[in-house]
Amino acid sequence: MNLPASTRAAPIGIFDSGLGGLSVLRAVRALLPAERLVYVADSRYAPYGQRDDDFIADRTLAIGEWLVAQGAKALVVACNTATAQSIEFVRARLPIPLVGVEPGIKPAAQLSRSRVAGVLATPVTLRSARFQALVERHAADLRVLSQPGYGLVEAVECCDVDSPELLQVLRGYVEPMLDAGADTLVLGCTHYPFLDAAIRSIVGERMTLVDTSVAIARQLDRVLDQHGLRADAHAHESASPTARFCSTNDGTHLRKLAAALLGIESQVECVSIPSRRTRELEPDAA
Ligand code: DGL
Repeated sequence: MNLPASTRAAPIGIFDSGLGGLSVLRAVRALLPAERLVYVADSRYAPYGQRDDDFIADRTLAIGEWLVAQGAKALVVACNTATAQSIEFVRARLPIPLVGVEPGIKPAAQLSRSRVAGVLATPVTLRSARFQALVERHAADLRVLSQPGYGLVEAVECCDVDSPELLQVLRGYVEPMLDAGADTLVLGCTHYPFLDAAIRSIVGERMTLVDTSVAIARQLDRVLDQHGLRADAHAHESASPTARFCSTNDGTHLRKLAAALLGIESQVECVSIPSRRTRELEPDAA
């Protein structure tokens, strides 16, 4: 049963520690063009991948609550790290449906012929119980080479997707995987699809890259249907309403990456979303 049209026309919140969730936003826009979107990049506090668990849960909940206050009808936690660390905690506290993201271990297990797959993700994701359970459930007969992607989120946050220094770092991560026989590489962080071309320039056709953003958009589609929340196709005059972009820092890089990589020219709103942990860090902030 559908909810009232005004509820169905409400936006979907998409959140990441920074710019990586734009790779998910791109897939959501392609699959669900009638939906209004509000994107929040918590770039002021990125990267999350080296933060403690409580910090990540605190930020995810604060941003989720902020998006609910902005009228969001559903929330996509477009961050593997925040999902791994806090999705159950946040789901129990928000009144809207949540969709999280997780590294594509299942598709990798289906795709790999050599039965060796690399996983690039943040240290927090790799050490989480959720990730361990995912590997046990779907990859019992797969050799999984887990590699923390130190420095990669920072590079994308600065819009660096192809510098020689970055390529050098990436080579250090993927060449040992190739040497160990891996034919599949899971991009286990939503920032990494923006490094697709850089990784491809190193591995050529020797590896299949697994990016789950399209699968996340499909899962969101199912969740909207289950809750009667899908926007009417005619709800907006233009075929694809412009997303609203918000950043907890000055937004310059968010605007640049949205334009360069997604072809979306948009203003970025600078927003302040204080939380318990950031008040401790910055007692003088608003
Ligand atoms: N895009 C986030 C993820 O998927 C990056 C986390 C971070 O800020 O370290 O994990």
